[in-house]
Amino acid sequence: MAEVILEARQLDYRYSGGAAGLRGLDLTVKRGSKLAVLGANGAGKSTLLLHLNGVLRPTRGEIRLDGRPVRYSRQELSLWRQQVGVVLQDPDDQLFAASVFQDVSFGPLNQGLSPPTARERVAEVLHALGIESLWDRPTHSLSFGQKKLVALAGVLAMRPRVLVLDEPTAGLDPWGAQRLVESLELLHRADTTLVMATHDMDLAYGWASEVAVLDRGRAVLQGAPHLVLQDEQLLAGAHLRAPWTLQMGLRLQELGLYPAARVLPRTPEELLMCLKSPELA
Ligand SMILES: Nc1ncnc2c1ncn2[C@@H]1O[C@H](COP(=O)(O)OP(=O)(O)O)[C@@H](O)[C@H]1O
Ligand SMILES: [Mg+2]
Repeated sequence: MAEVILEARQLDYRYSGGAAGLRGLDLTVKRGSKLAVLGANGAGKSTLLLHLNGVLRPTRGEIRLDGRPVRYSRQELSLWRQQVGVVLQDPDDQLFAASVFQDVSFGPLNQGLSPPTARERVAEVLHALGIESLWDRPTHSLSFGQKKLVALAGVLAMRPRVLVLDEPTAGLDPWGAQRLVESLELLHRADTTLVMATHDMDLAYGWASEVAVLDRGRAVLQGAPHLVLQDEQLLAGAHLRAPWTLQMGLRLQELGLYPAARVLPRTPEELLMCLKSPELA
């Protein structure tokens, strides 16, 4: 069984206005997984993610890191956040320094790295994300997509073991979204565990090793994407729909155009490939 790195157990969270953000939510993040947290607007994705590095503290229930319940002292929070990095949906909520360099170097300097080593870290992550040219730019002068990448760079510069992203592709153009997914792939290969909240079912199906479906503050099901996302009743109840590629794959199977024993295509590209050369199917 895969090692569990991060866990949410029976989380309740109530906002000060009285709205219930989470209601008895369970989530398991296995080491090395790519977990997509799916849910309609208001399902509780952002609220959950803010619990995963202690920005919000549950009204009831607990978070466990490496099997141990976390504590909320200043020191423990700081250690926790070095291991679990959360990239917020709105980069304006994350960026705070005047320049890109200052913003991205803040985390490494705060971790106690020397200024030259922190500088190397900044160079490394800006290069990995293809945004070296933004180094000296004032953060307020960046486009939305550039801000999103800089916010991600700031978290990556701390080399977290678990990277948590809230709707990372929302508001990006298709090229930007593709670049982001490719960067995540590299991080995954370098042993980073990834958690992504999204309501983009097609993105999640092509990307995730596991999915969790949230509905009104609860995780109604967590498991293998092709199994969870075939459950039309469950998805309809959560105001979601099955990914297009999965629907097409299943329909082709029904029509006898795709072998029942073969793994279903996960992306539109894979689907097109088997339609172009049916002998592969
Ligand atoms: N700052 C807030 N104050 C009060 N209620 C909130 C706040 N943020 C979210 N909520 C409520 O908590 C629930 C979950 O919201 P959220 O976690 O933002 O969902 P999602 O990210 O899935 O769209 C919703 O009912 C929402 O209205
Ligand atoms: Mg949200």
